Amino acid sequence: MLKNKRAVASGLALIGALSLVASACGSKKKAADTTVAAAPDTTVAAATDTTVPAATDTTVVAAADTTVAAAAAAATTVAAAAATTVAAAGAPTTVAGAAAAAGAGGKVGVILPDSKSSVRWETADRPFLEAAFKEAGVQYDIQNAEGDAAKMQTIADGMIAGGVKVLAIVNLDSDSGAAIEKKAADAGVKTIDYDRLTLKGSASAYVSFDNVKVGQLQGEGLLKCLADKKVNPASIIELHGAPTDNNATLFKQGYQTAIKAAVDSGAIKVVGEEAVPGWDNVKGGQIFEQLLTKAGGKIDGVLAANDGLGGAAIAVLKKNSLQVPVTGQDASVDGLKAVLAGDQCMTVYKAVKVQAAAAAAAAISLLKGEAPDTKGQVVNDGVRDVPAVLATPVAIYKANVKDVIADGYQTKADVCTADLAAACTAAGIA
Ligand code: BGC
Repeated sequence: MLKNKRAVASGLALIGALSLVASACGSKKKAADTTVAAAPDTTVAAATDTTVPAATDTTVVAAADTTVAAAAAAATTVAAAAATTVAAAGAPTTVAGAAAAAGAGGKVGVILPDSKSSVRWETADRPFLEAAFKEAGVQYDIQNAEGDAAKMQTIADGMIAGGVKVLAIVNLDSDSGAAIEKKAADAGVKTIDYDRLTLKGSASAYVSFDNVKVGQLQGEGLLKCLADKKVNPASIIELHGAPTDNNATLFKQGYQTAIKAAVDSGAIKVVGEEAVPGWDNVKGGQIFEQLLTKAGGKIDGVLAANDGLGGAAIAVLKKNSLQVPVTGQDASVDGLKAVLAGDQCMTVYKAVKVQAAAAAAAAISLLKGEAPDTKGQVVNDGVRDVPAVLATPVAIYKANVKDVIADGYQTKADVCTADLAAACTAAGIA
């Protein structure tokens, strides 16, 4: 999974390799945590004669004559490799769908949540979604609500008026997300929950990662880093994500379960915990500083829900001349650099290109009037089972930062700055 070089072609092929791992929220299928073999370096002819109409700068019509046979073949191989996890998870449909959608037309709207709670939305999700839509020959319009739920509704209204047939949102909270989805449904527009489940919403599909597993990797990561440092008992602070983000609930569930035995035995003492509204990194730093002060300035580790919050905690720790294991998520450039520098214990890599390709495939199915093929996987949103595609996250420590770079998610140039040259060499980053 970490070795694919072609973002879009491999992404489409890799839909066949998605581990449909059950998550909390009433998931119906529990699959083994299987590592999926990398897809062969498939050659997919690039679309030629791409036509970009003089529309808005995010609306693009890609060429229709993409050759996808090779991708379909690769998908079969990957699906076979992943047989214990998922039976041929819909890749041929995806590829066929891509071609058909190009003929059928129909625009897809995507609304990202903000550009500050995590760099991923603009630096990874947008370009990978653009690439997936272009590859499939689907018109798209991607906008960002910049943390403002009212703005998200206004953008959605504009997209619906502008004729999108499918709308994917990363909600800022479930209530506003459900309202957007209801309005879209009333206008005959199908919706997709991208990354964050909208509780009591009406989306036709949910495309995300196994978010309880993300949290589990973070909890296990902290345990490992504390054990490496031989700290026992350890006092820790937990910095949770936004209370309005269902993912934050799932991450917390994952890491609190992972450390429960250590907490019960007294090996870990949680000396402070708080959720950070909107995942706001600045507020995160302030909250962490207060928790640290309350703990008398003495802590041994931090369970931070993402790299942004981890970075905020690290800045406060440095101010206090402390260096303790801190977790994260998103495999951001700053997160990976902090891991290499020894300031952060670990991060979690979520292959956004796989997620973006799965979202594009789901959107294409909906454009065609078909239900997205999730092989029976569903996640309960509080009232309803939502068809779900959940990709598998990977824990990243110093030793495998190189995998994130090899996968093309970050570049060596960005991560291995002069100050980290020695650390990069030691970590085998060529
Ligand atoms: C996403 C994370 C992200 C966080 C803040 C979560 O819903 O899954 O990847 O770091 O939001 O944007």
